[in-house]
Amino acid sequence: MRVLIRYGVVVLAIAIGATMLIWPVATGFVEDWARRDVEMRSRLVYSAARDPIETLREAGDEAGLTRLMERIGQDDGVVAVALCENGVVRAGSPAMPAEFRCSHTPANGSSLSIVTFEDARLLVSAYSLGEGSDQVTLVVMHDDQEIEARLSRARLFIILAAIGIAFGGAALASLFAYLVMRRWTISVRQAIEDARAGRPEESGGASTMIGEEIRKTLAELDFVRHSIDAAHTEWSPETLRLALANELPGSEVIVVSNREPYIHNRLEDGTIQLQRPASGLVSALEPVTRACGGVWIAHGSGTADRDTVDSDDRVMVPPSNPSYALRRLWLTEEEQEGYYYGFANEGLWPLCHIAFVRPVFRESDWRMYREVNRRFAEAVAAEARRPDPIVLIQDYHLALAPRMIRERLPEATIVTFWHIPWPNSETFGICPYKEDIIDGLLGSSILGFHTQFHCNNFIETVDRFVESRIDREEASITLRGHETFVRPYPISIEWPPAAMANQKPVEEARVAVRERLGLPEDVRLGVGIERFDYTKGILDRMRAVDALLTTHPEWRERFCFLQAAAPTRSKLSNYRTLQEEAEALAQDINARHGGPFPVIQLVARHHDPEEVFELFRAGDLCIVSSLHDGMNLVAKEFVAARDDERGVLILSAFAGASRELNEALIVNPYDAYAMGEAIARALEMDEAEQRERMHTMRQQVQSRNVYRWAGQMLLDAAHLRKKQRIMRLMDKAGQA
Ligand code: G6P
Repeated sequence: MRVLIRYGVVVLAIAIGATMLIWPVATGFVEDWARRDVEMRSRLVYSAARDPIETLREAGDEAGLTRLMERIGQDDGVVAVALCENGVVRAGSPAMPAEFRCSHTPANGSSLSIVTFEDARLLVSAYSLGEGSDQVTLVVMHDDQEIEARLSRARLFIILAAIGIAFGGAALASLFAYLVMRRWTISVRQAIEDARAGRPEESGGASTMIGEEIRKTLAELDFVRHSIDAAHTEWSPETLRLALANELPGSEVIVVSNREPYIHNRLEDGTIQLQRPASGLVSALEPVTRACGGVWIAHGSGTADRDTVDSDDRVMVPPSNPSYALRRLWLTEEEQEGYYYGFANEGLWPLCHIAFVRPVFRESDWRMYREVNRRFAEAVAAEARRPDPIVLIQDYHLALAPRMIRERLPEATIVTFWHIPWPNSETFGICPYKEDIIDGLLGSSILGFHTQFHCNNFIETVDRFVESRIDREEASITLRGHETFVRPYPISIEWPPAAMANQKPVEEARVAVRERLGLPEDVRLGVGIERFDYTKGILDRMRAVDALLTTHPEWRERFCFLQAAAPTRSKLSNYRTLQEEAEALAQDINARHGGPFPVIQLVARHHDPEEVFELFRAGDLCIVSSLHDGMNLVAKEFVAARDDERGVLILSAFAGASRELNEALIVNPYDAYAMGEAIARALEMDEAEQRERMHTMRQQVQSRNVYRWAGQMLLDAAHLRKKQRIMRLMDKAGQA
């Protein structure tokens, strides 16, 4: 539109300039033409009057001459006429000025002369009559106002014509510009589409030259993405760094999550202990951040966290080999209560997981959630050194932060990853703040989920509750002019896992763990390791062990199940109750299937990654029986731990990981009997089958590791940034 207005104004200015230039020429021409017209009419008067004047003069008819003068004086445009003879007026029309003298007469037939009388300015022309000795002249007088009137009319006409031409020209030029621009835009869009579809260029012309530039840029981008993906089946920290350096050169990465990757706690003896939290989010993102560098903003939850930061609340981590800054955000008890325990973990967590635990929504929690999200957004804005950082926002604690960050840093590329499932629209509909949560998330540039299924659920939820434009082919949602792409990125673990670095050989781990648990060497061991969370199906797998020993008594005293569970969110009654129930159930099963060792050994404490990996290596099988899980990284860690290609994974069909780890024994955790049968099958599986299954799963986890997860998101972010730059260029070209 601005372009069209500009074109219009330019044409208008040209028209005004042209009018000013032609003005003197045009008015001079009109004046000249008007004079000639008067002259011509005077000559006509003379031609018509010559003979009658001669006749009357010869007859000496003075009265006739006067009547003739009177009649001629009534001619259109003629003011007066006079007949001069030898320098004296012989006859004149009544309107002849009293001051008129024959000396006022110009030379015979000459062009008009202007004579000013007392009452008027007249145009006077004179014509000689007779060829005798007398000098006889007919003098015709016209009003010079007549020329003035013609000039005024001519000026008006010129002005009107100029205005008409200017507006007409401006409209035509604007129309022309619009058509050209439209064609150009279509051509550029076509170029982009062609480049995406890999179609060759079809048309020529200037617009395609620009389109060609864009096409090349996009093709190059696609090529880079494909080549990185194809050439590096093994994504590594190095590949990720390379992708970042090539595709997002000089960019700033800011990670934001609630949970921090390193927690400093003060022990009773006063020393500080460094803890690596049990969090799938942390295990996935920490190696990525190590590779990319930058800043990670998270809640400082450790008892010694404040003692270990600098004056900017930052500490460089990992402590052994610092590669990024951890910026800690302090939350009051009240804030943690409302935002973390309340809205995030009593509201959103049960809402998004189908575990049949009723979500609780309190207005006061919601207020606190908003407030803490705002604080995180402000921390991002304060940490950003550039107006366009890449902000990687993690999980359901920070659903409002993307929009809040977008308001503060409009040029940021915000990639939000939702680590837990997204329920169907009917379920999400019970959340009283659903519109605000959707609005918050749609501040993101890219919104990621583990599976396509959860992407679809999110899009359906938006469709149902928020007025927006959904492009299902592109999987994008546009809200108030801002487009968010919704994409599946199956999360994974680092390969090889850092915790594998110092592991003992599998045989040694088996012996060591059995010794610790007081188990005879030939006892088969099943392991389950996670947080004490009701979504993990811990009670259900205990019931499955119960079912196994009931249905297959031959495994009594030959099988033990170790459940390592890190207490988590223990302030919440649902979590405390679960722990109590698990302890009671373990006791009950142990009592019923008693022998020289407890069948179920429940270890309720935090385990560091190295310990976890040792347990994985010592086990004959691992049970992941989540009732609902976005991905579940324990399953992938178990596979990564088994470099001996032994061991069987029993995996819930309701964990995202079951989409990738098809060689696991897939189970329904709600069916204790079937899960018991799966345990029996695992215990009986021969080595060759174990090896075959484990080998395939290891290849899968190795190639689809966490660097690939992050790499795909960052490449998509780079792609988007490039696309946005092109759009900005197009906008600029459009405004030019
Ligand atoms: C899940 C969530 C993470 C969270 C982790 C541990 O994996 O998706 O965001 O960090 O649980 O829970 P916690 O409440 O201890 O951080």
